[in-house]
Amino acid sequence: TTKLWVVDKKNPDPYIIGQAADIIRRGGLVAFPTETVYGLGANGLNGAAVAGIYRAKGRPSDNPLILHVADKRMAEGICPQLSETAKKLMALFWPGPLTLVVPKKAGIPEEVTGGLNTVAIRMPDHPVALALIRAAGVPVAAPSANRSGRPSPTTAAHVQQDLQGRIDAILDAGPAGLGLESTVLDLTVETPVILRPGGITFEQLTEALGKVLMDPSVLGEKLPENQSPRSPGMKYAHYAPAAKVVLFEGEPKSVVQCLGVRTGELLAGGERVGILATEENQGRYPKGSIVLTMGPRENPSEAAAVLFSLLRQFDEHQVDVILAEGLELGGIGLAVMNRLRRAAAEVVKCE
Ligand code: TXA
Ligand code: MG
Repeated sequence: TTKLWVVDKKNPDPYIIGQAADIIRRGGLVAFPTETVYGLGANGLNGAAVAGIYRAKGRPSDNPLILHVADKRMAEGICPQLSETAKKLMALFWPGPLTLVVPKKAGIPEEVTGGLNTVAIRMPDHPVALALIRAAGVPVAAPSANRSGRPSPTTAAHVQQDLQGRIDAILDAGPAGLGLESTVLDLTVETPVILRPGGITFEQLTEALGKVLMDPSVLGEKLPENQSPRSPGMKYAHYAPAAKVVLFEGEPKSVVQCLGVRTGELLAGGERVGILATEENQGRYPKGSIVLTMGPRENPSEAAAVLFSLLRQFDEHQVDVILAEGLELGGIGLAVMNRLRRAAAEVVKCE
């Protein structure tokens, strides 16, 4: 069985943290909150423990994990020769939703890096995560705490839905803040490349570094057959609820129009239709559909906070299809659209 420990976010009980840290040190699995989503942690220096993460999640073993650290000293233990760029970014954005891909030191288990010669590191901005890592005294390898392919968990209840009985314990400190995973930035190339957009935006990184590139997978562009993606995670179907997702992009007015037409057709065919709508458009769709709102178009951080939870809610409503409004690509909107495009079976360009 899986233990559930409720802890205070700002002031977690040291006794509970100590017990959770013991589980990690002894090779077990503990789900814990971060400022992005809930993570599933194991001792990052113990290959067998890390293998347990893949088993619990049903995750392909060539998709590498992020090592979570409590301070810069721990990061230097993983990568002794941090570049000036890495140090600058750590000073600006850590603790926070920025994962840095750096050269790996010998001794990091294969299971963490999926056989790559690089390793991903991040320092989460959450008192419970930091207390756990500090108490464990080792870097904590942690992917999002969902079954592979499911939307990432933003609450302990989501973790229970996916992993109850498959892991040792869950630390519950209420909903994760941002709602989407960290930005993954590759620093092992000449010009840093965003492999996954997240909490730290393209604009923020460009301002800090002058120039940052974006991997083609970020906007869901298909790679040529013979080319393998730089971030192995990008090649897997992801964030998919049980229902088929169709994403509608274009001018907001055209989107309402063509999404509405499709809704009418599907309802007439007897399908259960869910609509992921912006606040301003939520009242504009045909009756009979289940409309959930992701907040105003102007504030994509609200959409980021609720997106994964809404995808799970549509599954509870047992809809057959989810029709989603696309958002603009600026700021955190880019991360929201990256998740939606990767969840989508079909993208409709509305004219
Ligand atoms: O916000 C987050 O990053 C959350 C919380 C728990 O910290 N974690 C998370 O982990 O989202 P996961 O495993 O779901 O996603 C990690 C991503 C994957 O896309 C993986 O392919 C990529 O990081 N990644 C890990 N190591 C890498 C490496 N050495 N090179 C390139 N990409 C890497
Ligand atoms: Mg994940």
